Amino acid sequence: MSDGGELAEVLRRIFERPRSEVAPSEILGVLGTSNNDGNTAALARAVFAPLPNAALVNLNDLAIAPYDYLNRHDNDDFLPLAEKLAAAKTIVFASPVYWYAMSAQMKLFFDRLTDLTGAHKQLGKALAGKSVFLIATGGSPLPPASFEPPFSETARYFSMRWGGMLYQPGDKPVDAGAAKDFSNRIAGGIREASVRAA
Ligand SMILES: Cc1cc2nc3c(=O)[nH]c(=O)nc-3n(C[C@H](O)[C@H](O)[C@H](O)COP(=O)(O)O)c2cc1C
Repeated sequence: MSDGGELAEVLRRIFERPRSEVAPSEILGVLGTSNNDGNTAALARAVFAPLPNAALVNLNDLAIAPYDYLNRHDNDDFLPLAEKLAAAKTIVFASPVYWYAMSAQMKLFFDRLTDLTGAHKQLGKALAGKSVFLIATGGSPLPPASFEPPFSETARYFSMRWGGMLYQPGDKPVDAGAAKDFSNRIAGGIREASVRAA
């Protein structure tokens, strides 16, 4: 292929990419559950439905390897996701309570945040100032006290602002009113950030 042909091919690929891959989302959700159509996914979708410029990424759709002390997984899907987080203004995690803790999918992702404290420190620094929220479901009427701190403390570690958690018992239908209130709270975080930046 000629140089001009190659350039045309590269441009064609860029412009034919789905829009979500080109335009960063202001609000990026990260869902980690063993059930793609389960209680946590339903609650997260209800919260995200009214939010503009928001995307919900399901960790089950990505290949992310467990943390490796020798950083031998630079080519998996973690760094592209970390770049999306760095480009977003607000981050929303969604996880069920599995054995008093976050899901295994989410924990694996959280362990990989360690990459952002070493080889990819610049991406870690880019997280500072963002707002972070948590959506969770569990079998009990209330979450265990130990559930929220790994999220809120990790947010604090990266100098992000902790926005709080929406928790609902998974055996009940989604509380649409509470979900809408939480959507508003997340959208309010974006408005606040715009005021701070102005
Ligand atoms: C592996 C596993 C462990 C669980 N552990 C807990 C628990 O420790 N505390 C709790 O309240 N519910 C627990 N549950 C119930 C789930 O948190 C609850 O059903 C949740 O809504 C499931 O969300 P999902 O549909 O996204 O998987 C557990 C469920 C599973 C499958």
